[in-house]
Amino acid sequence: MQLDVFTLFPEWFDWLGRERHVANALAAGSRLNFVNYRDHTRLSGRQVDDTPFGGGAGMVLRVDVVEDALRAHYATDPVLLRERRRVIALSPSGRLLDDSLVDELAGEPALTLLCGRYEGFDERIVEHFCSDVLSIGRYVLSGGEPAAMVLCDAVLRKQPGVLGDERSALEESFSAALDGDPEYPHYTRPAEHRGWRVPDVLLSGHHAQIELWRRERSRERGAGAHAADDSAQ
Ligand SMILES: C[S@@+](CC[C@H](N)C(=O)[O-])C[C@H]1O[C@@H](n2cnc3c(N)ncnc32)[C@H](O)[C@@H]1O
Repeated sequence: MQLDVFTLFPEWFDWLGRERHVANALAAGSRLNFVNYRDHTRLSGRQVDDTPFGGGAGMVLRVDVVEDALRAHYATDPVLLRERRRVIALSPSGRLLDDSLVDELAGEPALTLLCGRYEGFDERIVEHFCSDVLSIGRYVLSGGEPAAMVLCDAVLRKQPGVLGDERSALEESFSAALDGDPEYPHYTRPAEHRGWRVPDVLLSGHHAQIELWRRERSRERGAGAHAADDSAQ
């Protein structure tokens, strides 16, 4: 898959390409490209943002600058781009990213991610250039870069052959194998530490019972998470 990230800070992503499963994805043919809005501004002083009409704090990313960056990279009118590929604005108020949305996005051949900064995007960027507005959580980051990294990490680890052991992706939190529940707890050696013993069933070698125990723990965690979500609402 091809991921194009539009940002003011492409250098923030240097480590991402070196991270093992991202490096595996790139070696297997995925592409991760970065475009700096600032390289495409026609304004003096490499300006990319401006003060908000109507007043208020902060600076707003300009629609003409984002248009120029998209147009230069794709050689097309950005208004038409979202018919060819999903163009995603990252925003705290967007649709919340969850595992089923990650699955959906991981199946796309190409994604464009727009990182905001300061007060965020001129709304015309979202209205006219974007197919989706996505949030990684109900809190405000200083910029879209960490959110873009989260999205790139989550979709690239779903690409075939990327994880060292393909079974990891089949049975993990929120997967169909666990009916969408969180994963069960894991333990490793030592079997006892400061009197904290690993559950006997895991040491029993009885695969059916281990399976049952794990499924029950997973369901319990799912029920606990739903109760916490409900009480937070
Ligand atoms: C400081 S935030 C802007 C916040 C905006 N003024 C608001 O109140 O919604 C700057 C940029 O960070 C990114 N961002 C911040 N929080 C995010 C989140 N939870 N999910 C995705 N992107 C986020 C967005 O790209 C946003 O344009």
